[in-house]
Amino acid sequence: MPPEPDISGLNTSRRYNQWLGGKDNYSAERESTATIISVLPNMMAAAREGRAVVMRIVHHLVADHGIRQILDVGAGRPLSPNVHEVAQQANPKTRIVYVDNDPLVGVQHRGTTVGNPQGVTEFVDGDLLNTAHLLADEHLLEVIDFSRPVAVLLGSVLHLIDDDERAYEAVRTVVAALSPGSYLVIVHGTFDTLPGTTQLKVRDLIGSGRHGTYHARTRAEISHFFTGLDLLPPGIVSSVEWHPTPETTTTVPDAMCWTAVARIP
Ligand SMILES: C[S@@+](CC[C@H](N)C(=O)[O-])C[C@H]1O[C@@H](n2cnc3c(N)ncnc32)[C@H](O)[C@@H]1O
Repeated sequence: MPPEPDISGLNTSRRYNQWLGGKDNYSAERESTATIISVLPNMMAAAREGRAVVMRIVHHLVADHGIRQILDVGAGRPLSPNVHEVAQQANPKTRIVYVDNDPLVGVQHRGTTVGNPQGVTEFVDGDLLNTAHLLADEHLLEVIDFSRPVAVLLGSVLHLIDDDERAYEAVRTVVAALSPGSYLVIVHGTFDTLPGTTQLKVRDLIGSGRHGTYHARTRAEISHFFTGLDLLPPGIVSSVEWHPTPETTTTVPDAMCWTAVARIP
């Protein structure tokens, strides 16, 4: 039996889904969102920009860099367009594994996510912090062949890990498993660009412990995830500045996220 959703408390994955326009949220998420946007009025728009840049990157890697395998860790709830839709539109044979540590995300993906039959679209329950176990998962390995290039997406997930060393170690372990020509994609929340007074208010909110973990990192801290890798142009930039397309309507001047793509040499 799939787990029943517990709606008594805040679920940050549901709240994020609300920010993206999803309907699967309850009073705990709505109240938290109202408090957050009273301090950060752009938060929902910024989340949408963080999601949109992942889709631009996926299209770019499949269409222009020949990527045919994608591992999306911290995938979040299904919400169209999803990674497999963008990837398989660019090349229908693309193989995708979604991973999340929220079991209800898995239930939703298994119930609704249908990929292109020429490719593969799977969901695996797993934890980025249990990295070796995740990378050895038999269902994951039925889809992803690490001896060939893989794009690993870490979209808006690393800032949910507040232990720096564990976050760096997890990324190092993932990178070590990748073959040359693979890619590491990171979209990561930051407060670098917020005025000092807003930063203080945000830190108070987070410090209250009522809104879940949000461990924003500085650009320098985020660059550490890419040590030894070759950053693709334009390097580490705001989500809204990562190859905006003519169709990209930037809704926020500051997306509060650093974004970068690196190639494994
Ligand atoms: C903010 S959502 C991001 C969704 C999607 N990647 C995107 O960019 O739109 C973060 C997701 O990461 C999941 N998550 C948090 N910590 C994780 C971990 N240690 N391992 C795997 N998933 C995790 C959460 O359950 C949530 O669904």
